[in-house]
Amino acid sequence: MTFKQPIGVFDSGLGGLSVLKQIYKLMPNEDYIFFGDSANAPYGIKSTQEVYELSKKITEMLINKYHVKAIVIACNTATSAAINRLREEYSIPIIGLEPAIKPAVQNNSHGKVIVMATPLTLVGKKFDQSAERFKNEATIIKAPAPDLVEYVERGELLSSGIKEYLHKILDDKLPVNAIVLGCTHFPFAQKAIQEVVGNDVEIYDGSMGAAMQLQRKLKDIGKLTSDTSKGKIEFKNSNPDPKEIELSQKLFDM
Ligand code: DGL
Repeated sequence: MTFKQPIGVFDSGLGGLSVLKQIYKLMPNEDYIFFGDSANAPYGIKSTQEVYELSKKITEMLINKYHVKAIVIACNTATSAAINRLREEYSIPIIGLEPAIKPAVQNNSHGKVIVMATPLTLVGKKFDQSAERFKNEATIIKAPAPDLVEYVERGELLSSGIKEYLHKILDDKLPVNAIVLGCTHFPFAQKAIQEVVGNDVEIYDGSMGAAMQLQRKLKDIGKLTSDTSKGKIEFKNSNPDPKEIELSQKLFDM
């Protein structure tokens, strides 16, 4: 049996599984460790320093315990709060997630684009920089949606509660041309979001972009696996309740 050095993927909770799905589709022969920090979720209402410290702890664990060859921060909030510092501190490739504003704006020139994300992502420097960059090409509207994270953490994806919440935060911003899902939990709520905003509205997320960037990086450093057998995925969670792992598998298989 050949030893495959795994890729570490982490999130504040289960949302990052939407990213892992895309990565696994693109690179099914790699091995993965997915770590969901559900015991500390949500990150999006914490301070930048707190999110950086939590992200650093997970990064160290993935490197020291699992010897990962690269890390994907499958969380827009942790990327915004921590990726620059973590890249200075560790030498392995660290890939992050950012709201996919660029394709949404390019396909909806002079249109209206709503970016749904956590409060911390929407006040971050990274978000300001991309909103500034595209401000003459489209109207970009922020929609902080912290409670949506909790609905997804509970596996509540299409309930009347989630739809009511979505109406509450989106109705006064509609109609709109495109929605950017700037939080990795939100693709799991995509059906409910689409119902609330209408079927004509395009919905974007950054997960495929991140998967492709990871593949490029691994290729650059000569660390793509040459193994042709199917890769293994291990789901880990900071919440010891075995239900977290069951729900992880369920969301991954969706
Ligand atoms: N999944 C995370 C993101 O992409 C954050 C959710 C949270 O607030 O914990 O931003």
